[in-house]
Amino acid sequence: MTVISVANNKGGVGKTTTTLNLGTALSLMGLRVLLVDLDPQASLSLYLGFDPGSLEITSYSVLTQKIPAIKAIMMTNVAAVDLIPASIDLAAAEMEISGRMGREYLLRDQLETLDGLYDVVLIDNMPSLGVLTVNSLMASDFVVVPIEPTHLAYKGLQMIDTTIHEVKRYHKELEMLGCVITMVDERTKHAREIIAKIRENYPVLEPPIRRSVKFADAAAGNLPIMDYAGTEFEGSKAYTEIAQRIFERLKPGTTAAGENS
Ligand SMILES: Nc1ncnc2c1ncn2[C@@H]1O[C@H](COP(=O)(O)OP(=O)(O)OP(=O)(O)O)[C@@H](O)[C@H]1O
Ligand SMILES: [Mg+2]
Repeated sequence: MTVISVANNKGGVGKTTTTLNLGTALSLMGLRVLLVDLDPQASLSLYLGFDPGSLEITSYSVLTQKIPAIKAIMMTNVAAVDLIPASIDLAAAEMEISGRMGREYLLRDQLETLDGLYDVVLIDNMPSLGVLTVNSLMASDFVVVPIEPTHLAYKGLQMIDTTIHEVKRYHKELEMLGCVITMVDERTKHAREIIAKIRENYPVLEPPIRRSVKFADAAAGNLPIMDYAGTEFEGSKAYTEIAQRIFERLKPGTTAAGENS
């Protein structure tokens, strides 16, 4: 089982969209995928058609009440993609767990109990670098950082990079797998310049994802981009190509469905 954090402290850069579409693309490659919603906004859960207000067992219960992770798993409409949803209670989790011993390892310990059930776990994070995101990083083998090619977002990249380095002091296997450049408008010179800078200084999972209203429409329809716009849509192809790159980097022992021990 390979665990991947999708994280960036900058808001609205495409973390949730990337989590769902990479998860879907990996499931289409035959992997058993679990998505974990670790954002109190519960966007990923909403995106997949769940009502965060009506759920009893969520990532909040798993983190704060020691409810076994397996009890929080929901099936989704996307084949071979399961979800541990979030609730707004999760906002309180930061406070509740911040005084606990081993607070950074709560999620890791929970996900370890699911080893063998899934090939890939993708964790969608909130736009901040608090104890929830640290839990996500501590539980992960890889980090994927969605980023919009703007000057401000580029500056923000340094922050997440610093956090990754700090976490690596306690969890040295953690690896920055790469940035996913999102919402690209290649007609602007500014975007092209920032993309060049990102490529120069950070690993990038190519290709960049172009801006398209189809992404928001897919979200409104509770569908991954491949199901909403078809696999031939260029945004679907781009996410599939990135998923292929991730597939090639999965930990040994992470194999196609059913073959994992
Ligand atoms: N390539 C794209 N082109 C156009 N719109 C996009 C693209 N990717 C995502 N979006 C839209 O941009 C908005 C923000 O995306 P998303 O929710 O994935 O960002 P986020 O980083 O998870 O935000 P937050 O920080 O609030 O969690 C959403 O409305 C989404 O549908
Ligand atoms: Mg989000």
